[in-house]
Amino acid sequence: MSHSNRAEQAPPPYPTTLEQELAKMTTVTEPLTRMTGRERFLATAARKQTDTTPVWFMRQAGRCLPEYRALRERHPFLEVARTPELAVAATMMPVDRLGVDGAVLFADIMLPLDGMGVEFEIRPGVGPVIASPIRTAADIERIRVVDPEEGTPYVLEALKLLRETLGDRAATLGFAGAPFTMACYLVDGRPSKEYPRTKAMMYGEPDLWRALMSKLCEITTRYLEGQVRAGADAVQLFDSWLGLVDPDSYREKVGPYTAAIFDRLRSLAPTIHFSTGTGHLLADIAATHPSIVSVDWRLRLDEAWDVVGPEIGIQGNLDPSMLMAPWTTVEVAVRDILDRANGRPCHIFNLGHGLHPETDPDQLSRIVELVHEYRAG
Ligand code: CP3
Repeated sequence: MSHSNRAEQAPPPYPTTLEQELAKMTTVTEPLTRMTGRERFLATAARKQTDTTPVWFMRQAGRCLPEYRALRERHPFLEVARTPELAVAATMMPVDRLGVDGAVLFADIMLPLDGMGVEFEIRPGVGPVIASPIRTAADIERIRVVDPEEGTPYVLEALKLLRETLGDRAATLGFAGAPFTMACYLVDGRPSKEYPRTKAMMYGEPDLWRALMSKLCEITTRYLEGQVRAGADAVQLFDSWLGLVDPDSYREKVGPYTAAIFDRLRSLAPTIHFSTGTGHLLADIAATHPSIVSVDWRLRLDEAWDVVGPEIGIQGNLDPSMLMAPWTTVEVAVRDILDRANGRPCHIFNLGHGLHPETDPDQLSRIVELVHEYRAG
């Protein structure tokens, strides 16, 4: 497939797109009739009135679904992620089965390494492993900064195909790893609890750190911009290991790069900041100005809102381990989250982190039903 005329085919940038989508909606005036998933998600991100709360689940397109496991028996993970038709098939599985309002592209935060010229593998039972970890000035120098059209064309192709396949059933969600979390994988070279080499570089080698984070910031921004051009309705920045960072380092050595990414995306699409275990950073995360902050179960939703302020939306925050409890217990927890959101204009129901592979998908279907019925009555 040719990628040459993607730019001409791209939709006009947000907010035009969003305003047009919202203008088409006849449902935003009382009485509220049923919105499509995409309308519900986009209106929520734009802080407009909706029929009910939108919901999706982090890591919904993965191993808890038998149809995904069947696909994986025939194709290795990276082949699925790098083949647009397969990636879209995996993306659609939770939309078809669960009725979620967001369709997160089946991809991985490691894929931009293809364009960066950094070799990696996803080792079963371990996770991402880098062939030659990035430790020196020369290593950083060698990282290529390219546009996603060149580095990861298959991601953009998949988003385009997803947009066509999905119609208005759900919003298309693009994503990327944030510079700090990408640095963790690149510098330590493999999954770790503490990422000590990465933090040692952050503390002790400021020039290297600045060079690495600046490059990752530029690569990530271009990658997300490309995803929006290709059809992503919103984008999520995964800073999965941010909880390891102390408040002063966040302010000086991490937050400014995150803020720069959101600054450049602000006029294009709604942005979601994701992290876990970051109650100590919440006010500073809000100061990077994403549209929405994803919080985990360590915080109460209403208390998190008091910290980030009413202008920022919140996504979350059910503990994925809660999904292993009996439904009656899950139901109480889901209702508690919705009560704490208390009809505020910008709440997206989600988990606080990715779901566990052992999760029973029926629990997820029930949650979608409950969230959708909660306000709709
Ligand atoms: O619904 C979805 O979220 C699917 C798309 C998706 C994947 N990875 C697919 C995947 C998304 C959004 C990610 C993000 C991702 N990848 C993150 C941030 C989210 C988080 O959990 O904090 C991180 C840190 C990674 C890096 C990564 N990729 C790890 C740690 C692993 C191994 C862990 C695991 O679950 O096995 C991967 C591989 C990976 N990415 C799988 C999937 C479905 C498992 C591969 C398989 O099918 O065997």
